[in-house]
Amino acid sequence: MYTEKVMEHFQNPRNVGEIENASAIGTVGNARCGDIMRLYITVDEAGIISDAKFMTYGCGAAIATSSMATELIIGKTIHEAMTVTNQAVMAALDGLPNPKVHCSLLAEQAIRAALWNYATQNGMEIEGLDEPVTDIGDHH
Ligand code: FES
Repeated sequence: MYTEKVMEHFQNPRNVGEIENASAIGTVGNARCGDIMRLYITVDEAGIISDAKFMTYGCGAAIATSSMATELIIGKTIHEAMTVTNQAVMAALDGLPNPKVHCSLLAEQAIRAALWNYATQNGMEIEGLDEPVTDIGDHH
């Protein structure tokens, strides 16, 4: 039921861990399944995400989407990172089974939470970004 890419990222997740002195951190959870994702990003002077790492306590799809999300945001500007939606993460993984779509929302919301954390620390706005929800289980 999972694509090869999902299995591959689940078994060999990229960018697992924490970043000491990260520029920003986003933590989101889903109270329904109990899964939690924390995303660390390093942003350079040019506003480019030069590094990203994640810690996820969750199902296989949550691990795979976290892994893919870090790969997709590294090298993007904080503004471009807004294009890394759950749809984009799913597409990069060749799709997720329907009951697992919500797991990719965890990745999207973790990215947004980290961007929000970065923007508020630096007194800036990121177009299209509102204060993210930290418990996505209440919102779908
Ligand atoms: Fe909750 Fe996958 S079952 S994130």
